[in-house]
Amino acid sequence: LVPALERAESLITLIPDYPKPGILFRDVAPLLADGPALRAVTDALIAPFAGEFDVVTGVEARGFLLAGAVAIAAGVGLVPIRKAGKLPRPAASADYTLEYGTATIEMHDDIPVGTRVLLLDDVLATGGTIAAAKDLVARVGGIVTGTAVLMELEGLGGREILGDPRLHHIFRG
Ligand code: PRP
Ligand code: MG
Repeated sequence: LVPALERAESLITLIPDYPKPGILFRDVAPLLADGPALRAVTDALIAPFAGEFDVVTGVEARGFLLAGAVAIAAGVGLVPIRKAGKLPRPAASADYTLEYGTATIEMHDDIPVGTRVLLLDDVLATGGTIAAAKDLVARVGGIVTGTAVLMELEGLGGREILGDPRLHHIFRG
């Protein structure tokens, strides 16, 4: 990693037993709060896919924190993927499994058919969230041309579930 990214990684703070006992939470807030670190990770998320996407999408909530920065830096627009019940117009919906129970995310179905989408999130763990988001993009007529996360937690099966050889992480945990 280049020094700016090494410094960015050092700002990710590990919080034991949050939000539940046994979970080691990766808090990216200190990284986001630092201008040069935010700039460095924004550029690193884009780099492998530069010129290959028409819009960025991020998954509510923490994916939004990256999607806005990436959209501006890449000069493209932003299409949110929201938790269920927040979108006012016709939307596709996908259920996915979390550690306890299930959740639902939704995306408006009005992007032009064939829109190339860069899909972003902060952390890839089991892959349930990103896989559901990828399914949503396809169902509204988009094409996921890249998937990028700040941190991939290895050994939880996320990469296998997604099945995307170009899945890009900046950091691993
Ligand atoms: C967290 C994280 C990822 C997801 C990764 O989101 O931001 O989106 O879990 O887990 P997975 O790969 O096992 O699906 P969460 O919905 O917990 O919270 P958020 O609304 O703060 O993003
Ligand atoms: Mg999330």
